[in-house]
Amino acid sequence: MLSYKGQHLFFYEFFTRPTYLYERDGFSCPLLKTSDKNHTKIKWLWYFYHMEMTSEINEKIKLLKEKYSQMGQDMSSYLDGLLLSNYLTYWDYIRLDTLLSLQQPQTDFPDEQIFIMYHQITELYFKLCLHEIEQISNNGRNVLDNGDDRGWKDTLDPDFFLERLKRLNNYFKALTGSFAIMIEGMDRNQFLKFRMALLPASGFQSAQYRKIEITSTDFINLVHKDKRAQYSGTVTNSMIEDMFNYSYWKSGATELKTGKKTLTLQQFEKKYKDEFIATGKEFKDRNIWKKYVGLSDDDRAREDIQQELKKFDANVNINWPLVHYKSAAKYLSKDSADIAATGGTNWQKYLPPRFQKRVFYPELWNEKEIEEWGLAFLNEKE
Ligand code: HEM
Repeated sequence: MLSYKGQHLFFYEFFTRPTYLYERDGFSCPLLKTSDKNHTKIKWLWYFYHMEMTSEINEKIKLLKEKYSQMGQDMSSYLDGLLLSNYLTYWDYIRLDTLLSLQQPQTDFPDEQIFIMYHQITELYFKLCLHEIEQISNNGRNVLDNGDDRGWKDTLDPDFFLERLKRLNNYFKALTGSFAIMIEGMDRNQFLKFRMALLPASGFQSAQYRKIEITSTDFINLVHKDKRAQYSGTVTNSMIEDMFNYSYWKSGATELKTGKKTLTLQQFEKKYKDEFIATGKEFKDRNIWKKYVGLSDDDRAREDIQQELKKFDANVNINWPLVHYKSAAKYLSKDSADIAATGGTNWQKYLPPRFQKRVFYPELWNEKEIEEWGLAFLNEKE
């Protein structure tokens, strides 16, 4: 193993006088896999191979110098860093130890682990969705071939929009397709026991789920349907604040007996209300629908884009809610009386998508389709 100084010397010789090294040490050429230094042809090949390597590396060093000098940085210090730093490992890169330490059940029932992990998996998919929505709403990043990131683009490319919508649909398809892990994958008796140790926490308190809604559509579509008529005209920030009070989901978290906000809802609002309103204001003019409306007439009329938007609408507002509802029905319904949900909510009247009729893009559906909203899975075959 060469010393640090020796390495520098070697690199110097290697880059500037490869033939000298060849003569001196009888180096074997990795390309030719031989060390026969008397063979002239091989000698020349060896020479050209390294000349090419040298010019390629010189070119890279030139680019690196440019990169660092643009930022007023000294390239050689960074090269020292490269020489001294350790190799990256898979487990460090994906923070595996941290990830696998995040499952902390409240009880000893083995199936609670499944419940925790599947929620975590879902939250990661939600995060992927929000990541794509962020890309769409900012028109995507302008990354040059050499990796230089020039910031967000000025306009939204319709093909980029379509691709990102497809990604969103893939994430939701994965979620809907895997929900059997909840519906069939836990012992009902264990579930009914360990859930009591989780009160009043509920998936209802998933902030990312709400953010997907807020960033996907105009806020008015998230207002309870009985309250929508009171809003018209250009949406202002103060209207968003007002509309938030009538978010449809609040009706899903009122106590059956008293009609009061459940503790689940109270805690949820205490933590996230400001954040939701801020997100509503931030995406007022750049949610997915607004980005679609901002396309040219021709692009807006594109069948593929409209279809993908409709699929997304159906995935978030029908297909996922339907599989989710099935799990509530399996675990919380008894033959005679229903078992109270997490916060004692009226989940039977709330969770089925046909009651809520949440629609992100009502302009893209016909009357009959909206009327039959949630009666069956949509776009199931695609
Ligand atoms: C056995 C599995 C599950 C059951 C029995 C169940 C049950 C329920 C119930 C009864 C509600 C109504 C609110 C309440 O009373 O708490 C609800 C809401 C909700 N749950 Fe679940 N859930 C399950 C799995 C999941 C999973 C894996 C997620 C993923 C994050 C999730 C996310 C949600 C969301 C986002 C809501 C609000 C839905 C909406 O507003 O339409 N749930 N759940």
